[in-house]
Amino acid sequence: MTLDLSPSEIGKFTSAYRALDFVESDMKLGLGTGSTAAWLVKLLAYEINNKGLNISACATSSETTKLAESLGIKISNLDELGQLDLAIDGADEFDQNLNLIKGGGAALLQEKIVETAANKLVVITDASKQVDDLGTFDLPVEVVKFGWKTTKRLIENVLIDQDVDCRIVTRRNNHTPVITDENHYILDLKLNRIGNPNALSDALLNIAGVVETGLFLGMTHSIIMGNENGLARVKSTGSLDWVDTSYDIQSLSQFIKNINDI
Ligand code: A5P
Repeated sequence: MTLDLSPSEIGKFTSAYRALDFVESDMKLGLGTGSTAAWLVKLLAYEINNKGLNISACATSSETTKLAESLGIKISNLDELGQLDLAIDGADEFDQNLNLIKGGGAALLQEKIVETAANKLVVITDASKQVDDLGTFDLPVEVVKFGWKTTKRLIENVLIDQDVDCRIVTRRNNHTPVITDENHYILDLKLNRIGNPNALSDALLNIAGVVETGLFLGMTHSIIMGNENGLARVKSTGSLDWVDTSYDIQSLSQFIKNINDI
């Protein structure tokens, strides 16, 4: 069977598929944003429609709300649901301590609000997201529009104080600054390597115009890393070991096709 999917996309699907093992009926779920989380949303829709799965869910972005609702998943307000049982989301990078960079899809603020309201955060990724040190991926920082150039300058000062070599780029779409769901701008920090993520996070959050950063530190319960051969590796906080599950790639491919056709 030929699938029009890149190895990375199959890896993302594999990790989302493995994440279903963490989902139980009647759970309150937070649904992440991005291409990996989109697979999860599709898989949940399949489980709801074909296997009687019952969940309450809130989303981390307007994009995910739109996708979920288009597939018949009811999206509730986070405040209606209160404390969540589980949040599942993608990441742009993760390190060996399961710390993350997120926000490549500009949804970091709602993601952090939802995910800190969850008893457990499970992160779904393909193998390309694993790094020794965070920072190869640009670090997104969400800032309020008011005085944003001043905020940018203050961020530069923080980075100089921390002896970090960095360039800051305002995220744009067709030359226009990207506006987040909460009506803010995103500054992307080109750092290359983040030596001390906690110190950097604290210093950035100390600047009044900074709303949130894409550093998700100490939040992850488990990482699931999928690869193109149907292998899903799970690593959980407090454990050095990966727990592997291998899916038959032919059956998985058939399933991807079914899910894709939803
Ligand atoms: C959205 O703002 C991000 O945090 C995403 O979770 C992250 O960018 C991962 O996206 P992909 O699953 O598309 O790689």
